[in-house]
Amino acid sequence: MTSRISLPLALCLLAVLLSSPACKRPTKRRPGAETKAKPAAIRSVALTPQPAQARATAALVARGKQLVAQYQCNRCHAGSGHGTPPLAKNCVGCHAEILADRFPPAGKVKPDVVAKWKREIVDLTMAPSLTSTGARVRRAWLAKFLQRPHDLRPKLSATMPRFVIDAEAARAIAAYLAPQAAPATSAVEGDLRHGRAVLAAKGCMTCHTFSGLPSPVDATQIPVKLSAEATTRGIMLAPDLRHARERLRYDTLVAWLREPTKLKRDSAMPDLKLSAAEARDAAAFILRAYLAPAKLPTVPARLPLLKRAVSWAEVEKKLFKRICWHCHSEPAYARGDGGPGNTGGFGFKPRGVNLASYEAVASGRLDDKGERESLFRPLASGPLKGVPRIAAVLLARQREVSGKPVPGLRGMPLGLPPMSPQDIQLVESWVAQGRPR
Ligand code: HEC
Ligand code: HEC
Ligand code: HEC
Ligand code: HEC
Repeated sequence: MTSRISLPLALCLLAVLLSSPACKRPTKRRPGAETKAKPAAIRSVALTPQPAQARATAALVARGKQLVAQYQCNRCHAGSGHGTPPLAKNCVGCHAEILADRFPPAGKVKPDVVAKWKREIVDLTMAPSLTSTGARVRRAWLAKFLQRPHDLRPKLSATMPRFVIDAEAARAIAAYLAPQAAPATSAVEGDLRHGRAVLAAKGCMTCHTFSGLPSPVDATQIPVKLSAEATTRGIMLAPDLRHARERLRYDTLVAWLREPTKLKRDSAMPDLKLSAAEARDAAAFILRAYLAPAKLPTVPARLPLLKRAVSWAEVEKKLFKRICWHCHSEPAYARGDGGPGNTGGFGFKPRGVNLASYEAVASGRLDDKGERESLFRPLASGPLKGVPRIAAVLLARQREVSGKPVPGLRGMPLGLPPMSPQDIQLVESWVAQGRPR
């Protein structure tokens, strides 16, 4: 198997490449490059009538800005107001550069290895930009979402990760990203039936889903003509329209439908030239159509332990080196950064969880007191009591996407689709068999 030999070699090469100054220079089209200009959202904070209140608001916004730096939001999002991180830290940026053949530089890594990378990279290839977030979404929604993120975009495999963001931090980040005071809401006006017809006729369903409607909007009319790249981007980044009623106000939505790029200059939604009446009716339909309650995935049944022998090689190949390793690697890899799950990042303290080798997995994690604890120790309490931590975190991720986060336990892989019951069964069986090599 050529890949077994060439991949680690190639990754060393990648690390070397990244430590050369050339790699740190942002290239022209990298996501996030446009954030060098000050976001409009931040400029408009300036004047509020009472000086004391203005000072308090400015302090909150400044705290939010500092938190956005601390949580490294720019490793996945453009438009955070913190510029583009170096490529070695830029999760979405690096994946996107590789898929677009802009990294690694031609000739530096064997073509077959690059081809393999391109096949393997499926998650975090795109994320919505945060450009002028406050011009679109309600601040209160934002604060809630940061504390309890949920899936918004059905075609995007990753979700916004569940960070340690308390109410105070969420309020500050929301104030930073959405500093405008919300004007009084205008009443929703419009013809719902005509609104529905507009969605069908304009090809909105080319990109969007609208879950919960008793009968789906006709998606067969597709007048939206875009490049293949723009269509893919549009489909991947289009939110399920059911969330719009919590996220946007009516007047914002009408303005958005008339000219998306006026509210967000890097919008992945094209301007579909709706008339004022079409935009009003479409907005009324989106905000007022009857919707059945949201259907979240059910927590899959846990499979019984395997009777056959499970080896380290199998667990490593199917789980740790396929997914986990990218956030839990050797600190020597990529210039001292062992990933957010090992040496810290995304606002997390270093947990010291290295999943890159048998010995590293056996060395466990740092608990809240900074002491080493085995990843195989069963949890002492909670709904996953008795399950070894290494498997419990995987079960916790299944519960998170079903809207049932486990208190005190973060689901893994962080913000990514849950592992399958078969993969979890494999880890559980390996641990139960005494973790053979
Ligand atoms: C590991 C990557 C990652 C990091 C780091 C990250 N996010 Fe996200 N975020 C995502 C993804 C992916 C989505 C899209 C989720 C969806 O649509 O379901 C998202 C969605 C969002 C949204 C909703 C945007 C919209 O228009 O719908 C906001 C707001 C947001 N993130 C803010 C933040 C903030 C603030 C931080 C830092 C505290 C942050 N994110 C850090 C991956 C990340
Ligand atoms: C310097 C480029 C680079 C950076 C930075 C980078 N990755 Fe990757 N990533 C890759 C490559 C190359 C692969 C595929 C080859 C492999 O599996 O090693 C990959 C694969 C992955 C995979 C497994 C395949 C998949 O899509 O599920 C995950 C998960 C992942 N990366 C997450 C991350 C996260 C999270 C970050 C940021 C903390 C990150 N990556 C930063 C280059 C990068
Ligand atoms: C080419 C794909 C595409 C088409 C066609 C499209 N949209 Fe969108 N739409 C998007 C994307 C992508 C976003 C998210 C924009 C962003 O954050 O940059 C979006 C955002 C929205 C939002 C805001 C949702 C939210 O929760 O923030 C609404 C509402 C919306 N679109 C309605 C429509 C309607 C109505 C039509 C048809 C007139 C339409 N869209 C056509 C891609 C598309
Ligand atoms: C996108 C990055 C990312 C990916 C991918 C990821 N992790 Fe993590 N992991 C983290 C972070 C960050 C922490 C620290 C969380 C905390 O302190 O609450 C962590 C912590 C952990 C912990 C310690 C939990 C605890 O309670 O202390 C375990 C165990 C773990 N991860 C296992 C895994 C496994 C197994 C996978 C692959 C299926 C995985 N992780 C994939 C980022 C990631």
